[in-house]
Amino acid sequence: MVKVLVVDDDAGLRLAVSSTLKNTGKFEVEGAVDGVHALERVTSIKYDLVILDVDMPRMNGIEALRKIKEHDPSIIVLVVTAFANIDDAIQAVKAGAYNYISKPVKGDELIALVSRALEAHDMISEIAASAPVLIESGRKFIGKTPEMKKVFELINRLSKVDTAVLIRGESGTGKELVARAVHYNSNRKDQKFVAINCSAIPENLFESELFGHEKGSFTGADSRKIGRFQYAEGGTLFLDEVGDLPLLMQAKLLRVLQEKTFTPVGSNRELEANVRIIAATNRPLEQMVKEGTFREDLFYRLSVIPMLLPPLRDRKDDIEHLISLFVTKFNSVHGKKLIGIAPEAMACLKKYQWPGNIRELENVMEYAFVLEPTNLITLNSVPEKVLSAIGVDLNSKSAVTVENQAETERQVTEENIAAGGMLGNIKGVELDFTKQKEMFEKEFIIKALKSFNGRINQTALHANIPKKTLLRKIEKYGINPREYTE
Ligand SMILES: Nc1ncnc2c1ncn2[C@@H]1O[C@H](COP(=O)(O)OP(=O)(O)OP(=O)(O)O)[C@@H](O)[C@H]1O
Ligand SMILES: [Mg+2]
Repeated sequence: MVKVLVVDDDAGLRLAVSSTLKNTGKFEVEGAVDGVHALERVTSIKYDLVILDVDMPRMNGIEALRKIKEHDPSIIVLVVTAFANIDDAIQAVKAGAYNYISKPVKGDELIALVSRALEAHDMISEIAASAPVLIESGRKFIGKTPEMKKVFELINRLSKVDTAVLIRGESGTGKELVARAVHYNSNRKDQKFVAINCSAIPENLFESELFGHEKGSFTGADSRKIGRFQYAEGGTLFLDEVGDLPLLMQAKLLRVLQEKTFTPVGSNRELEANVRIIAATNRPLEQMVKEGTFREDLFYRLSVIPMLLPPLRDRKDDIEHLISLFVTKFNSVHGKKLIGIAPEAMACLKKYQWPGNIRELENVMEYAFVLEPTNLITLNSVPEKVLSAIGVDLNSKSAVTVENQAETERQVTEENIAAGGMLGNIKGVELDFTKQKEMFEKEFIIKALKSFNGRINQTALHANIPKKTLLRKIEKYGINPREYTE
């Protein structure tokens, strides 16, 4: 229940507002007689919303508003003013009120305004708890599950400090994406993000690659070279697969972390390094420390704040969101207009364990995009590897478990549509073009609505149906889009 505090020195008005809200059954309402009283209540209990009269003895509404917002900026405040007093209203909104209501307060207006305020508030707090806002253009960070919310929170915190970070997680869980998010949310964002893959550099070239070299410092060094540290100056250096860093280089990296200086190969000049290090690995560093292949002191230096990315199989609720991201991405990459994924294909992708995590999901989606002849990803274009891992035999399709007969029938119809060739799959087709066309239209629209969670705008856009046409057909076929929201 939403907790509301109604503040008014006029007991009659207080009661009227309270009972209007209480009657909806959605609000738990309490009253306060003036600003001082309101502040006492707000500091002792958490309210979601405060409805505040402006003209009150002891402490007026505007002053109370400021103090309430100072105490808890997340409380939504609505101010009630006399109709003539628009100046008060403007002042209130400037001081952080969500909006104002003019007296006399009408019940339905009050409910509408309160509902809108709560909706807006939910949206804002969702943004705050969700994806880090800044990431390079063209990249999107998906994560609606509690596991990913925690990751986002940590990214936000890590962005505000300048310590080294060690990101761990299985292959394809998004370690590099997280590193980029930390960089682009930090105050180094206007400088470079430089990535280096430690497993891809031959041991004898490592030092020069990281720190640069002077001309003639070793055979083949025929000109001076800038190292990655200099290149990333002021920005962030991402050391991917840091577990593959040779021991000698581990010592040199530790020195940069401790002293913030380094020396290019063949040079006698020490250079300052103003570079933030973000490292990532999928290797068991603790074990490597025990075996002596990874320096313990470097391990502790890097892992001040542990950051572990959950595997995709532990956050399967993100799969659908990732799939719609990839549908949009590959539509634009491959110039296609796929509207989404058939439910039975989605069910398979949700069942699969994703050892290669998001990268593997992305690859599977791209594979399906290239192969799929229809405008919906179907079981036929899901790679054999995925299907066999979850025990689906495409020839019998028997392993897609179905709970009951109705469900079986629904799936059979969906498979017909998904297969793209309805006529071929329907026995005894009635040879009536208009009827067949209408049948196809209806099923296509239902399918499209399902793929986009019953959202009209999205469906119109991605299924390439003008919105007006879509609405007309929905009415014509008696489809209820709400049935397809989750
Ligand atoms: N939460 C996410 N939202 C959207 N895309 C993601 C997400 N996580 C990962 N990806 C995408 O998945 C792919 C793999 O991510 P990334 O390269 O960051 O993983 P990694 O952990 O560094 O993998 P590896 O261990 O193989 O190097 C990238 O294309 C990335 O954009
Ligand atoms: Mg990587």
